[in-house]
Amino acid sequence: MVKILEFPDLGDERGNLVVVEGEGFGAPFDIKRVFYIYGSDSTVVRGQHANRKTEFVLINVAGSSKVKVNNGQETVIYELNRPRMGLYLPTMLWKDMYDFSSDSVLLVLASEHYDGTEYIRDYEEYKKEVLKLKDE
Ligand code: TYD
Repeated sequence: MVKILEFPDLGDERGNLVVVEGEGFGAPFDIKRVFYIYGSDSTVVRGQHANRKTEFVLINVAGSSKVKVNNGQETVIYELNRPRMGLYLPTMLWKDMYDFSSDSVLLVLASEHYDGTEYIRDYEEYKKEVLKLKDE
């Protein structure tokens, strides 16, 4: 299930400090990979894939973006616009990231190392696989 996470601020008069650790403290999985996306503008649509194995937490550490999440049946749009807000995405969701502000830095924490073969990049194939999973 998609979850909105709120990270505590450990900051003081020197500024803000946010910590995200694996399982039980921030991200609901052990973090194996970190990547970040910046320099995309409001015309770009990224993502457009689903992952068979990887779970993610997305954080706009600067600026804002939107994430459109589809589970094969319904679509929900989330706006990421605060460095203390995380969006947890479990496996097998079709996702688009778009509407990036010019200062957007989208940090992504992942539960698995990169493996291109666990990505589904064809929506019809995704629908087929996700409906099969629901039947099981
Ligand atoms: P892509 O999955 O298209 O990015 P997004 O999800 O933001 O649309 O990835 C772009 C390229 O980067 C693609 O060739 C795969 C490569 N890549 C890695 O090698 N490792 C990674 O962890 C990621 C996320 C991408």
